[in-house]
Amino acid sequence: MNRVEKKERAYIQEVLNGQFSSASTYQMVTRLEQTFADKFQVKHAIAMVNGTATLHMALEAAGVEPGDEVICPPLTMSSTSIAVLQANAVPVFADVDKDTFLITAEHIEKVITKKTKAIITVSLYGLAPQMKEIMEIAEKNQITVVEDNAECYGAYQECKLVGTFGHMASYSFQSSKHLTAGEGGIVITDNDELADRLRRYSGLGYAGISGKKGRITKDDIQSPDYERHVVLGWNYRMADLCAAVALGQTERMEELVEARCKAAACYEEQAAACEWLHPQLVKDGNIHSYWTYVLRLDIEKVGWHEFRRKYLELGGDGIYAAWRLSYQEPMFRNKFFLNREKLGLYDSYDYNSVHCENAEFLQPRLLQFKTNYYNLEDAERQADILRKTIAYYGK
Ligand SMILES: Cc1ncc(COP(=O)(O)O)c(C=O)c1O
Repeated sequence: MNRVEKKERAYIQEVLNGQFSSASTYQMVTRLEQTFADKFQVKHAIAMVNGTATLHMALEAAGVEPGDEVICPPLTMSSTSIAVLQANAVPVFADVDKDTFLITAEHIEKVITKKTKAIITVSLYGLAPQMKEIMEIAEKNQITVVEDNAECYGAYQECKLVGTFGHMASYSFQSSKHLTAGEGGIVITDNDELADRLRRYSGLGYAGISGKKGRITKDDIQSPDYERHVVLGWNYRMADLCAAVALGQTERMEELVEARCKAAACYEEQAAACEWLHPQLVKDGNIHSYWTYVLRLDIEKVGWHEFRRKYLELGGDGIYAAWRLSYQEPMFRNKFFLNREKLGLYDSYDYNSVHCENAEFLQPRLLQFKTNYYNLEDAERQADILRKTIAYYGK
């Protein structure tokens, strides 16, 4: 199997054959949205330029206002909290669990205030946090939940597809993700009003578009009386060429996810016997989708850089570290928010004094192994190098 197959090429050719005429424009996006919605058994899927824009739009659709607080984990790729800033809201960080590495209802509850408008849960590395508990707290406090599933396609919790717990769920088609079109993103929801707003705000605030209608008709647009913009919007629309690849990938979702899960199983077999490596805990009722395979290293036994150096020396393909915690990034520490910091919204927040104990413990210890091998032998080779690295230091 290859990551990109005939299907994607054929759909690209179809777009090109359409000569970008107004009749053909947006057709591929519409097909992608329909297919994606069917896959996740939801009413709406709205495609956008990337998985950061989708989060930004989800927050706007949720009615997040300037100065509202949005809770998110700090152990994630920073787009999660960057989107909060883009919506002129305040990121509030809730700690993660030491074993699952995921945001929890308990930590969320500790930071809820009257200003909390939304929660962005992150299905980190392909595993979803305990969504039922989070939804209960959210409902009790009337807070909108957005699942950031950029790293999580085809995972399950309590026999339910991850992405169908929150009010909205956001996906990325960036090049490292399970499904890719180089760049791209999509939001799903069952709520008609949210879908209308997602579409309108990501489509320049056009009047004639809605959750189910991505394009304005010729009759609308060719009238001199037509008032286009009913509200402020962004142009975050996905291009048809991108949708062509994303459509092929969505149709192949199961096999693309399965390849990563098989690769993860190879690493797991080796890591299981080692006392100083601890896999991300998968709680009962969860099926992980393994965007990557992540281990916590006892750095008191072997240093992080030392481990990585040995793994590479033995022929390993590379190990990634966890991102710096979002609030530790210079942007947050210095509050360089493109002058939004001068609006008074952030005066009572000092990100230098934020401490999420578990996330700070985990961040320097995580070893992230690649799982995007479409040929099982390649994954087995990497897992064998993991075995040799473990043997070098002694189990
Ligand atoms: C958890 C998470 N959220 C959001 C994003 C942003 O997606 P994109 O790169 O498509 O903007 C990514 C990855 O890039 C991610 O890993």
